Amino acid sequence: MERVIFATGNAGKMREIRSIMADTYPEILSMKEAGIQTDIAEDGKTYEENALIKARAVAAAAEGGLVLADDSGLEIDFLGKEPGVYSARYLGEDTPYSVKNAELIRRLEGVPEEERTARFVCAIAAVLPDGRELTVRAAIEGRIGYEEKGGNGFGYDPIFYVPEMGKTTAELTEEEKNLVSHRGKALRLMREELKKL
Ligand code: IMP
Repeated sequence: MERVIFATGNAGKMREIRSIMADTYPEILSMKEAGIQTDIAEDGKTYEENALIKARAVAAAAEGGLVLADDSGLEIDFLGKEPGVYSARYLGEDTPYSVKNAELIRRLEGVPEEERTARFVCAIAAVLPDGRELTVRAAIEGRIGYEEKGGNGFGYDPIFYVPEMGKTTAELTEEEKNLVSHRGKALRLMREELKKL
């Protein structure tokens, strides 16, 4: 079985990818576990470009194997799809999400329910051992709430309300979120694409 590396240092993402890919790839290494350290500038203009930049950088440092990477963000329609690919950097990389979330709610003050539409988007890139590259993209649709709700998840989850579930993604358990999330869907799509090869 070929070595599989997921280009992230985020423990939550590693748990999610392991649970989704387990049947196809029983052992997936994080960058750290693979002994790879690279400082990667995510300066692409799209989620796919950024995911590919990460996957290529790790593939160049790794000796063989399949490398996967993701890039994601929140698009708010009323704000012209901001913060989008800049989601992590919005108001500054180190600014607490309580501040970022409060600012987004403020920018939507007075905006009616039907115009508060938003989505989380995730692209996953794969660099195969023979150099071939693949990308997939998935999204979850929702609306920006009026206040933060829920203590699970991370980032913008407390303000991302999913109408069908009647909850924000911060009110879902990790398992519930993985079933419907942009990243969960994109990982499952990538798993199916890799099976076809
Ligand atoms: P990256 O894909 O790790 O670069 O993350 C992009 C940024 O998008 C994160 O830092 C969060 O701000 C936001 N984001 C992406 N996915 C989620 C999610 O599932 N919940 C909350 N925020 C998210």
